Amino acid sequence: MIRAFPSSRVSVYSIPTPHGSEQAAGQESLRIRYCPSYQGRGLCQKYCFFKQMRLCFRRRWFLGILPTFSVTVTVIVLVLHYSFSPAFSFIYIGGSVEIPNLTYTNDLNDPKSQKFLSQAEAIQNYFAELYESSSWGKYYLKSVVAAFSEGECGLRAYYWSTFWAPQDMVTSLKKLPPAEQKEIGSKQATHIFNTSGEEDFDLVTMELFVSDSTEYDVMLKSAVSFDLYTKPGNNRTLTLMNPKKSFYQWRLRVPSNYVVRLVVITLHGVTPESCASHHLSAYDFLLPLQNKIITRWCGPGAWAPPVVRLTSSSNVMLLTFSLDRTEASSILKAHFQAIPKIMCGGHYISWNGTLSSPYYPSYYPPNIDCSWIIRAPLPGYKLSLKILIIQIQEKSPGASKCDKDWLEIDGVRYCKALSENNRNREYGYSVAINFHSDELVTHKGFYIEYKAFSHTDRCKPERLNCGDGKCKHQHKTCKDDDSCDEDSEENNCSYKSCSPYAYKCLNGKCLLKPNPECDGKRDCADGSDEMNCACGRHQLKKNRIVGGEDARSGKWPWQASLQMGVHGHICGASVISNRWLVSAAHCFLDSDSVRYSVPSGWRAYMGLHTLNEKSNRVAMRSIKRIIVHPQYDQSISDYDIALLEMETPVFFSELVQPICLPSTSRVFVYGTVCYVTGWGAIKENSQLAKTLQEARVRIINPSVCNKLYDDLITSRMLCAGNLNGGVDACQGDSGGPLACTGKGNRWYLAGIVSWGEGCARRNRPGVYTKVTALHDWIRQNTN
Ligand code: ARG
Repeated sequence: MIRAFPSSRVSVYSIPTPHGSEQAAGQESLRIRYCPSYQGRGLCQKYCFFKQMRLCFRRRWFLGILPTFSVTVTVIVLVLHYSFSPAFSFIYIGGSVEIPNLTYTNDLNDPKSQKFLSQAEAIQNYFAELYESSSWGKYYLKSVVAAFSEGECGLRAYYWSTFWAPQDMVTSLKKLPPAEQKEIGSKQATHIFNTSGEEDFDLVTMELFVSDSTEYDVMLKSAVSFDLYTKPGNNRTLTLMNPKKSFYQWRLRVPSNYVVRLVVITLHGVTPESCASHHLSAYDFLLPLQNKIITRWCGPGAWAPPVVRLTSSSNVMLLTFSLDRTEASSILKAHFQAIPKIMCGGHYISWNGTLSSPYYPSYYPPNIDCSWIIRAPLPGYKLSLKILIIQIQEKSPGASKCDKDWLEIDGVRYCKALSENNRNREYGYSVAINFHSDELVTHKGFYIEYKAFSHTDRCKPERLNCGDGKCKHQHKTCKDDDSCDEDSEENNCSYKSCSPYAYKCLNGKCLLKPNPECDGKRDCADGSDEMNCACGRHQLKKNRIVGGEDARSGKWPWQASLQMGVHGHICGASVISNRWLVSAAHCFLDSDSVRYSVPSGWRAYMGLHTLNEKSNRVAMRSIKRIIVHPQYDQSISDYDIALLEMETPVFFSELVQPICLPSTSRVFVYGTVCYVTGWGAIKENSQLAKTLQEARVRIINPSVCNKLYDDLITSRMLCAGNLNGGVDACQGDSGGPLACTGKGNRWYLAGIVSWGEGCARRNRPGVYTKVTALHDWIRQNTN
């Protein structure tokens, strides 16, 4: 398995000072690892998706207070320009850090509680020590933990650190465009954590913002704070009548798998003249950081609609109300609730329908990307789309295309209101729709209606024109008998064949809903879509001690190692039931000297973390039968799949669990983040890894991949990786899983490691056996 940096070490930069004095950090290096997927909600992994940074490190002295190895840090730098010293100025760095093995409790909601104070102090001391030994140490003043919330796998703390730095340094930082500020922030944090001598940490991305805001100052000196938490099903009310103070803040929190919905019902007394000092602002964070503003109201007409709904991208939101002290007649009434976090995007095959931005008509959350593919149910049909509403953040002045938030239909980006004649368009048989929101400022979003049509078809929509004057139900083919034609009740028909994109229930009914299986909703009348759902979940619990190497053991419990006597590990495989493993057909091709096709030579090891581990938690099974796909074609690696029946059933445990088999209709839209795991070579032509490796890869557009591989990609293959290279499966990973999450937080076996040109080369992604294409064959042979 190859990760993004084949050497697994990259150099770290330090912040350049205006005098050009680079710190000596260039020689130091750190190891970059991939965080697991976001989609495994509650699996302790989500923060990677939110472009935050995960640092896992070891600090012995830290253990006593915060017994942990793993910390997530988001750092945002805010530079405040103060005028009382000509030569020096304050710099604030704000962010959040996640401590996996601590639990959020109610008393941490109260900044005056004993628990809050001691926890905050531990973290503050920790930061002080980190900074003091770093190149920023000479400017460092202090760190303050301002709030806590429930994290993905523990406790999240929101902090800011203050620095007193030379004015010219501050000025030059402020001049940088936001993208570069971000870049510097991440390098700085990397540097800080690396200088602390910590080796084993995970880094994804970081955020940074430099601003002239004085909000920190206001907040620190005079904030009246309300710390609120609510569980799903309750509304918590926020009210403020005739405020006497000049700054109020409400820190809103919900459980970690939820997002905050804020409903502002009444807002009076926000006057036009005083936008700077008098406004209501909502932030997608627990600190008022300028690059986390979801929306702000001030000035005349700012308060047009009677009720506004906002949504956060994670489980916290901050609402601040800044007032002129003279303005005592203001009234604010709002409430907030916990709503489940939704996954946006998907693949729809439908005659007509609607599509909207996430949580529409609530404001969409910041920092989100969704992609949909809509397809007409039958070839020969086209799609027509009508944009009924579009209210999203407009592009920056002077920008040639939408650069902040956008709705993209068939490659064309939209970000402002459309005139009546530009709302309606016709597209081909299928259309790709993408929605992007940046970290700042959100609006109501968009609402689209679509329908499939054909210029030639005189049958009613949803009826198939058979050409002989007959119109049939769409699920039937023209050859089907006539007992169910146009006028008969569709409930009396039993559908003979589903379209390849439709999910087929056990009773034969077809569902047009995408990915209905194991999503927690009963979609088939017979409940068969929710029947085989004891799969695809690891047993790692929240708030367990996750530290050091062993913490990750158990994360991919379906991973098996196929070994052969003296040859040791040969291939990977995935547990799909207590008797069956899935692997790649090419693992069982005989060589001149070794008979790989004979079942008795093989042993399957399950629950392994390191390859030669001996523990009673590891399960070993002999193989009774190997079923290689009858159409396996070794010349082009088509149908590269094999089923292995174990001699005796394996017992599921914390370390051994089956992965879910995706049904034929399940779609893994390209761009989806998945994980490939295995003990394969850590670079081309090198040795096997000792410890199970995971690599974060994205599903690649099949037509792009087919071009890169000169038309070698069949419909039984799927490509995943990173087109820039650097991350991939490699020799020894074959047969192992490419796991992707879906609704219901389960991992699905999307692919089987099959082939690739070299490993991790640029424009040569990994090629996997596409499991959805072989689902029926697997089911037939294992049941
Ligand atoms: N065929 C290889 C094996 O036997 C796996 C190749 C995967 N290669 C890749 N670049 N993804 O282990």
